[in-house]
Amino acid sequence: MMLIADDIEFDLLLEAIWLKHGYDFRHYAKASLRRRLEAFLVKSSMPSFSHLQYRMLRDPLFFERALDEITVQTTEMFRDAPFFASLRNDVLPILQTYPSINIWHAGCSTGDEVYSVAILLKEAGLYERSTIYATDINPVVLQTAKDAKYPISRIKEMTKAYQLAGGTLPFSNYYTCKDDTAYLIPELKKNIVYNTHNLATDEAFIDAQLVICRNVLIYFDRDLQDHVVGLMTRSLSHRGFLCLGSKESASFLKSKVHLDTFRKDVKIYRKL
Ligand SMILES: C[S@@+](CC[C@H](N)C(=O)[O-])C[C@H]1O[C@@H](n2cnc3c(N)ncnc32)[C@H](O)[C@@H]1O
Repeated sequence: MMLIADDIEFDLLLEAIWLKHGYDFRHYAKASLRRRLEAFLVKSSMPSFSHLQYRMLRDPLFFERALDEITVQTTEMFRDAPFFASLRNDVLPILQTYPSINIWHAGCSTGDEVYSVAILLKEAGLYERSTIYATDINPVVLQTAKDAKYPISRIKEMTKAYQLAGGTLPFSNYYTCKDDTAYLIPELKKNIVYNTHNLATDEAFIDAQLVICRNVLIYFDRDLQDHVVGLMTRSLSHRGFLCLGSKESASFLKSKVHLDTFRKDVKIYRKL
């Protein structure tokens, strides 16, 4: 099969990133990764992937910017209300029976989902005996997550999402305001440990009762999805829960043999 120059340059760019920076994007869903890198080419006023490769191999700051473009950071608090309602009503009552609860939140981006889970745990009286290990490939978003502050203009939308997901307390319980910034209360942050972790190349994480990895697998090809679901399943304790995003599924993967479907509609699985 003859490849056109652009295809060869694209593959070589991914290989170069892997060899130089240790980030393996070779098994990301090709078409969408390529679209993001093409957009970055245009932004950087470069004519080809080879030019991009030359710069990425030599300029660490430029590579950091590229990493931001490659990894999609869309996230929201209580994104996908039915999922959070099910976490509150179906999963937390089972986790309540454990003396301590470890949660691995993989691909957590800027932390919106992590704090949503922290709020659910607090309302269920489980926060004090929980530890949330929140990880992402991108160190820059983890710093934003640690800061846990939002423009006040976002509070209205966050309050609505909290209520849609079944929240009944005043959402203002969870932040304080200064100037035009809302700061999440320290109590929500204290049992969260942020760390970089690459799902494509790093090992299984901890012995967790709950693993949440939503809207991350959609960026991976089938082989990498399988690898990652296997990795997350190995990180789960017996009968632990695995939560995927609404457009994701373990049903077509080989690794599904280790999982039961717990709530099909909101993509919650349980380790067999
Ligand atoms: C679209 S965001 C999803 C954020 C959040 N889970 C949600 O659903 O709102 C995808 C996240 O996956 C992270 N990511 C991409 N590739 C990754 C990898 N190989 N290992 C860990 N995280 C990765 C990105 O940096 C980004 O923060």
